[in-house]
Amino acid sequence: MSAPITTASGAKFARILSTGSYRPERNVTNAEICERIDSTDEWIRERSGIIERRYAALDETVVDMGSAAAAQALERSGVSPAEIGMVLTATVTHPYQTPSAAAEIAYRIGAVNAGALDIAAACAGFCYGVGLANDLVRGGSAKYVIVIGVEKLSDWTNQADRGSAFIFADGAGAVVIGPSQTPAIGPTIWGADGAQKDAITMTQSLIDYRNNGGESFPTLVMQGQLVFRWAVSEIPKVAQRALTAAGVQISDLDVFIPHQANMRITDAVAKAMKLPAHVSIARDIAYTGNTSAASVPLAMDRMLEAGEILHGGTALLVGFGAGLTFASQVVILP
Ligand code: UT7
Repeated sequence: MSAPITTASGAKFARILSTGSYRPERNVTNAEICERIDSTDEWIRERSGIIERRYAALDETVVDMGSAAAAQALERSGVSPAEIGMVLTATVTHPYQTPSAAAEIAYRIGAVNAGALDIAAACAGFCYGVGLANDLVRGGSAKYVIVIGVEKLSDWTNQADRGSAFIFADGAGAVVIGPSQTPAIGPTIWGADGAQKDAITMTQSLIDYRNNGGESFPTLVMQGQLVFRWAVSEIPKVAQRALTAAGVQISDLDVFIPHQANMRITDAVAKAMKLPAHVSIARDIAYTGNTSAASVPLAMDRMLEAGEILHGGTALLVGFGAGLTFASQVVILP
């Protein structure tokens, strides 16, 4: 007979304790983008809702930006760095296969007792991280978890590609998740459809790049219309399933924070869900662009800081992107 083993058990519930963000300094206007692609400020605003976006400096890294956002969230949480049990970094733009961005971020913020790993779920990555952090805290594997969404998409964008150069941008957002007396993170509805892996992908692998003699550095390439149609038809259903799983009526929501992919996708999803007029909608894309895994925590942090939404309000989060991946949950805001 096998020996009995002790299993961990954690807090009954988990919650988001704080947010943090980092927005790089450099503003990139649509006029600047139009120096490199055949487009206009008007077209970009109308088709994507983007007015300007931020680019990191050439020497500014995913680790730099992620550490800044995480440090701010940590400071606001009042949790000491040594109490963090896990650092989850959602990113697809850290330029090393190994080590992870999370390991270096954990070191930089003083999370000396934390495990660390990166989540490669593209624009759904932050919501994947919130779901995982909730389970880690409740399962007893970590008392506190930092979830970071960070991207430097400018490094992996073909600045001459008309289909994507105006969309992608850089930034970082983070939250600290820890124990709660009351339910504050609903079940995560998530999934992945690898049959659609080519909808958003890279032009070639790094191995192909090397074997081709270093020509045409790999960049992101997206079948924009296909992704647009998929998001508008599938994401309202995913978000509704997250509401149902949490037992929350749409009328009880205070804010809807979808991945900031395109303002028209946000509008179409909100309309398909019949989102009541009193529910605030994140529209951070206008001045931030599409920052993939960073977009949901950046939007959350901005809305809280600007007083557009209330601390303690009920928010519906949903991320979706390359994979194709998606994840959604209802959370109580810190
Ligand atoms: O974050 C990860 C997930 N990503 C997304 O969710 C992005 C989803 N897709 C999109 O947001 C949109 O597909 C885009 C914003 C990327 C493109 O908008 P669209 O409305 O789907 O444009 P389109 O590709 O259907 O092109 C419409 C027209 C075409 O001209 P014709 O054939 O109608 O004459 C294009 O040639 O717009 C033209 N066009 C442009 N015109 C000016 C395409 N790109 C540009 C451009 N500037 N940059």
